Amino acid sequence: MIVYLNGQFLPLEEARIPVLDRGFLFGDGVYEVIPVYGTKPFRLDEHLQRLGNSLAEIRIANPHSATEWKDLLTELIGRNSHCYCGKDQSLYLQITRGTAPRDHIFPDNTPPTLFMMSNPLLGSPPDVLDSGVSAITEEDSRWERCNIKSISLLANVLHRQHALDHGAKESILIRDGMVTEGAASNLFIARNGAVITPPKGPHLLPGITRDLLLELAVKHGIDAREDEISKQQLQDADEIWVTSSTKEIVPVTSLNQNPVGDGKPGPTTLRMDDLLQRFKQQFRESSP
Ligand code: PDD
Repeated sequence: MIVYLNGQFLPLEEARIPVLDRGFLFGDGVYEVIPVYGTKPFRLDEHLQRLGNSLAEIRIANPHSATEWKDLLTELIGRNSHCYCGKDQSLYLQITRGTAPRDHIFPDNTPPTLFMMSNPLLGSPPDVLDSGVSAITEEDSRWERCNIKSISLLANVLHRQHALDHGAKESILIRDGMVTEGAASNLFIARNGAVITPPKGPHLLPGITRDLLLELAVKHGIDAREDEISKQQLQDADEIWVTSSTKEIVPVTSLNQNPVGDGKPGPTTLRMDDLLQRFKQQFRESSP
């Protein structure tokens, strides 16, 4: 695997970060994950826009223009595509506030650290749309700025592990009685044929897949809206699914050990997945 670190492409085994990097010491940085279909990054402008927003929120100057980012990513994809036999990839980009003596205050004149790698895109297991997954609800223990795609993922890691330890695959987070999102995904419900997802704000990540699903729903005349979802409404939902760039649509068919609807992925979930797959296929077939 060829990775990119601070201006150089090099084998993963040779990439080294100083121990005083603020990403390592403070989790002081942001990241992005971008799926690549064939050799084309999907929804790239949207991902770069969100990266720019995350950087601005934590006051790190964006090290590259959109054109420079695109050139770097194209090169990273190209350098890895032969070892992944042309299969889909998943780009990971991380920017930290750089390496400096340990002090909470921002260091002066310190360039950010930029690390990027590309892994094979694994996605969800093929049978996920037949059976769905189980989820549990948990009190959202994260901070008040979840719109930033921060590398400080300790709370997310603990939530995810808690779900696993309790026999569930996903953790659905609740703040002040309202659903925010999954520990690494956004959340949708369907109720009487309408699609609902919580509105954007400081308590959830503005997911690229989430936005695309809303866009597709509107385009295809599906009744979809952004609205608060209470824990009770979640429990009463006909269908629940979570979304992310790497796993796409994952139906939640069991919530806190109770079946969601009839315990199988529902018609609205499958319709949304069909629309997403068609959109992706058109993207794959479009000119570069
Ligand atoms: N995570 N919410 C959280 C907390 C997430 O970590 C993610 C994605 C999402 C979905 O966003 P998107 O549709 O843009 O992927 C929502 C990525 C995939 C990760 O951390 O690996």
